[in-house]
Amino acid sequence: MAPAPGEILLVAGARPNFMKVAPLLEALRQSGRLPSALVHTGQHYDSSMSEVFFHELGLPAPDVHLGVGSDSHARQTARIMTAFEAVVLERRPRAVLVVGDVNSTVACALVCAKLGVTVVHVEAGLRSGDRSMPEEINRLVTDQLSDLLFTPSEDALPNLLREGIDEKKIHFVGNVMIDTLLRHLPLADNSTVLKRLGLEPKKYAALTLHRPANVDDEKSLGALLDAIGQLPAELPVVFPVHPRTRERLAAYAAAGPANLRLLDPLGYLDFMKLIKDARLVLTDSGGIQEETTVLGVPCLTLRSNTERPVTVTEGTNILVGSDTALMLEECRKILAGQGKQGRIPRLWDGHAAERIAAILENQLA
Ligand code: UD1
Repeated sequence: MAPAPGEILLVAGARPNFMKVAPLLEALRQSGRLPSALVHTGQHYDSSMSEVFFHELGLPAPDVHLGVGSDSHARQTARIMTAFEAVVLERRPRAVLVVGDVNSTVACALVCAKLGVTVVHVEAGLRSGDRSMPEEINRLVTDQLSDLLFTPSEDALPNLLREGIDEKKIHFVGNVMIDTLLRHLPLADNSTVLKRLGLEPKKYAALTLHRPANVDDEKSLGALLDAIGQLPAELPVVFPVHPRTRERLAAYAAAGPANLRLLDPLGYLDFMKLIKDARLVLTDSGGIQEETTVLGVPCLTLRSNTERPVTVTEGTNILVGSDTALMLEECRKILAGQGKQGRIPRLWDGHAAERIAAILENQLA
């Protein structure tokens, strides 16, 4: 379709981006004041990592698909930039909106900054302080290049001010990922995933693992899987496996302990049902720390830092890092009914995308 004059281009590339752009596109299209189009970079391309989310979240087919695929960081970022530059030159958007902290986010922000196109970053200001994580580099660079920064939690503002970003560009709006969660909970509740897997609510744990620091090192991954093998046998650990992790497990010929159930990646609705009804969640994901906080499910994060500290200070999250003894101790507490209680952070109320759309329309339409 030909580009609409004055449109805003929304960019999504990897799995955690899709649930962030869905409510934004919907809010913009509902009010109709600012034309929008969707670009998929193709950073994630397996149907279970991409297509299923378009289908379940009611996302329209992308207006542009860059089809970049996997590669090293430099090559993947460069391929996205090269392909996206041509799109921006052709469509001449009023602004480009990027979400989160993946390679697609920083690549498209950099293209626009060089072409003088307004950059909008949703989920700005999150910092783990750990520059060994590629996402931290992506966050720092994207926020420096952005003209409008929408923050999900109150910890983000001081991070941005410390980096010299003008407060006038920053708006605290809440968490768009939680918009999607709250909207889809009734549908997720109808998911048959527990039945299909023969699981009963609160009688299993859910695990996700894909950070290079956890899965690309054979020793770290082995230690983690050994620790999981020490959990009580009556608590099966259900593990939808990310493609990166699947590759590593195959390379190390690691099958995992007997209480671990390896699955293919799940769609959004099945996965939300799985974590909502879990006794506890073990993860190294960013978004799942937030989702468990809202669902009130105890979460043990297998990282020593988090860019989402509000999930620890207010939510149900505990950082256990690579300390497997601590992880087992916290699991035992949860099983004994002493899991961490939390509250829902401010503005994680299902209306973040509407607030963002209203500000964008005021400033850009
Ligand atoms: C990316 C993001 C990470 C995010 C994660 C969520 C960056 C730097 N990282 O990590 O922040 O938490 O997505 O999933 O952007 N692969 C497939 N099929 C796919 C996609 C990937 O098989 O559809 C395999 C490929 O072998 C690829 C590997 O997974 O090399 C890693 O994919 P990549 O997009 O580079 O990073 P993720 O680990 O998915």
